[in-house]
Amino acid sequence: MQAQNQDAQEFQLTLVLIKPDALKLSLTGYILSQLSETHTGLRFAAAKIVHVSRRLAEQHYAEHRGKPFYTHLINYIMGKSHYPDLPHRRRVIAIVYSGYDAVNTVRRIAGPTNPHEAREKAPGSIRALGTVVPIKDAEGRLISERLDNLIHASATPEEAEREIKLWFTPTDIMPFMRIYPTDYAQEHYYLSEEGLTTSWRPGCYCVVAAGELVWKSDLEALRLWRQGKPTPISLDAVIAKYLINTEQTPAE
Ligand code: GTP
Ligand code: MG
Repeated sequence: MQAQNQDAQEFQLTLVLIKPDALKLSLTGYILSQLSETHTGLRFAAAKIVHVSRRLAEQHYAEHRGKPFYTHLINYIMGKSHYPDLPHRRRVIAIVYSGYDAVNTVRRIAGPTNPHEAREKAPGSIRALGTVVPIKDAEGRLISERLDNLIHASATPEEAEREIKLWFTPTDIMPFMRIYPTDYAQEHYYLSEEGLTTSWRPGCYCVVAAGELVWKSDLEALRLWRQGKPTPISLDAVIAKYLINTEQTPAE
């Protein structure tokens, strides 16, 4: 029991996303204040404003692919639900908080996933200020619902690692707070219309440059890909972070 408590108190990183509904409702200041060091003892390790690409959204919510609410969830995190006609307003604020028991601390302040449940069971939580949006078909029949719950918070330390490595490059995070292994890339990797490549052609975008500090797990996936072997994480999960704010979504 004591060992369990000690584990739960370890130094952790956790990912918070201030979602498009929170930005639209101007709740950013309130959320930052609820999560401030005075309230939580946690410190900022990294932060950025992200125009969420479909690639990043689908990787972030990969576990929900195929569920009835999936399409609405992707549109929500991409900002399309709240800004259908204003692509330039579609963004989330991605923040890494660091500290002891960071994951549970932020989850507690965030509250239950469903805002209706949050209102009943955790009235002071951030998600108690969210809403549940009914989704109807062309005939007005209820087909699904969207949980506009204002923030994302990593659920476990393992999930935090996967998510932080999906949204942030190592150099986005200040060195003293980087707890996941990194290494230097030894090759260039480019994205062309045909996919990933290691040789430059006109129109290619450089995803990772030789000499760049990257997550070791990304390098391992790229190494296996080079050998034609299955990769433990998808290539989209590897490259999405290196493309943040480079991809526009004009057609969407
Ligand atoms: P996040 O912090 O956003 O990851 O939420 P969570 O960890 O509390 O929940 P989970 O990871 O299971 O789900 C991710 C997101 O999918 C939620 O924030 C919701 O927006 C959405 N979601 C999850 N479960 C449901 C559901 O049963 N119905 C609907 N409509 N949306 C859901
Ligand atoms: Mg979750």
